[in-house]
Amino acid sequence: MKIALAADHGGWNLKAAIQNYLQKTSHQVVDLGIDQEERVDYPDFAAKVARQVSQGRVDLGILVCGTGIGMAITANKFKGVRAAVVTDLYTARMSKEHNNANVIALGGRVLKEDQALEIVKTWLEAKFEGGRHQERLNKIAKIERENFL
Ligand code: RB5
Repeated sequence: MKIALAADHGGWNLKAAIQNYLQKTSHQVVDLGIDQEERVDYPDFAAKVARQVSQGRVDLGILVCGTGIGMAITANKFKGVRAAVVTDLYTARMSKEHNNANVIALGGRVLKEDQALEIVKTWLEAKFEGGRHQERLNKIAKIERENFL
C-alpha cells in the first residue's frame, strides 16, 4: 500500500514510529511532515494528506495531531475522503469494515505508541464489508456532491 503520513507538533513523534512500522511491514510511505518539534497548524498538514488521497495519488492516509480531531475535521473537507478519529482497536476495525475509512486520524496525546501501532495494523488488515455499508457510503457521497462546490 502507498500511504501518506503527516502530523503536527502534537503527533510528530508518534508519526515517526508509525512511519518506521509501515516501512518495516513493506508499505510505501509518503512523508508529508513534520519531522521535528516545531509549532505548526494542523489544517495545513491534514490538507496535504487528504489532497493525495482525494486525487488517488496514494491508497490511504494517516494523520496525527494531539487528539486526531482537528486533522479529521480538515481531511473530511476533501472530496472522497472518509477520515475517522480512531481511539482503540474496535473503532480501528469498524472504521474500515463499516465506513471504509481511507484516512485515520490518531491522537499523539491520547495513545501510547504500542496502542497506535496496533490500531494501524488492525485498520490495515480489516476489510470493508460492502453491501448495506456501501449503500450508506453512497448516501454520504451524494450529500458531498450536493453540498460542496
Ligand atoms: C495543537 O495544540 C492541537 O490543538 C492539535 O494537535 C490537535 O489536537 C487539534 O485537533
